[in-house]
Amino acid sequence: MEQRENPKMLKIKQAHCFDDVLLEPQKSSINTREEVSLASSIGDCEFALPIISSPMDTVTESEMMYAMAKLNGLGILHRYNLPVSQASTFASVKMRLEEESHPYSERLSAAIGTTDDYLKRAKLLISAGVRILCIDVAHGHHTLVESALKTLKDSYGEDVLIMAGNVATPEAYMELSSWGADAVRIGIGGGSICSTRIQTGHGVPTFQSILDCSLVDGATIIADGGIKNSGDIVKALGAGADFVMLGSMLAGTDATPGEVLNTSESNKYKVYRGMASPEAQIAWRGNARSLEGVSTTVQYKGPIEELLDKVARNVKSGLSYSGARSIRELQVRARFIKQSNAGQVESSTHILRNEK
Ligand code: XMP
Repeated sequence: MEQRENPKMLKIKQAHCFDDVLLEPQKSSINTREEVSLASSIGDCEFALPIISSPMDTVTESEMMYAMAKLNGLGILHRYNLPVSQASTFASVKMRLEEESHPYSERLSAAIGTTDDYLKRAKLLISAGVRILCIDVAHGHHTLVESALKTLKDSYGEDVLIMAGNVATPEAYMELSSWGADAVRIGIGGGSICSTRIQTGHGVPTFQSILDCSLVDGATIIADGGIKNSGDIVKALGAGADFVMLGSMLAGTDATPGEVLNTSESNKYKVYRGMASPEAQIAWRGNARSLEGVSTTVQYKGPIEELLDKVARNVKSGLSYSGARSIRELQVRARFIKQSNAGQVESSTHILRNEK
């Protein structure tokens, strides 16, 4: 029988994830981390720390928003409650920061959806002084996102910057940018609590999506999902991201919502859950439909300031290994190599595997 080429198979390409790659070290003249800047911008809002906390109900409520602003990053207030409650939480953080005359009180963000009361929610948040609205949906390459983006841009122009997503391909990234997004969240199905790829068979490794999207012109790139450590942050920035969005890395810190649970003084933990997990869906809409996430507990990590201080130091070291003094320089200089499975083992602290 004649063997015919299947056009769908021909299109299959290899996609790499964070653990598949490493950055080659390059000549450096950087003497201290102080010479390295991590500054990055969304529109006219500059942030000294290119880290954004995810709009999830176990990550970003008032304490996280406040902490991220104080640390010169961004916390996006989640949308899983009534519009008036969200707006009042937002206003309480803004006032708190204004009382301290903190410049980041003018660079705050909150999430909205694309259906039901999303315009009411947006209006209340804009009245409360939101600067960056985040259109937060699972499948961002969608006509509902197009319509929400165009409606908001027509109504509010440059008064409000808009982040939208999530998307995984350059086509989607370009479209959202052309619909008016100032920043686009890139990453589908890579999050630590995601089961989208298992349930739907769809997704692209976040590292590959960033790499692909960085080749075309568009809005500010936010790498979102699957970032596990400071090395992944450096890889994401090197691949073309302007910011990273974190869920699991910040989960369990004292700035996240929820109780510290403990079985003993040395075993403390907090809940971290996907927004499409049954637990989260039942909490915010009373029933669980399309389940694309899980709920779990993570170790209590203590003060977020200590954690992000270490992360920022490591990321700056990361830039200096590539001889880069800024994120832009890293993006130009970055040279990725692919590592084998044996290389991945060598890259981990492998003595812990062998010594028992
Ligand atoms: P990390 O890996 O940082 O990922 O914990 C956080 C990101 O995961 C996304 N997210 C979800 N994706 N089902 C999904 O498929 C979910 O239930 C879910 N909840 C959050 C989101 O982009 C977040 O920033």
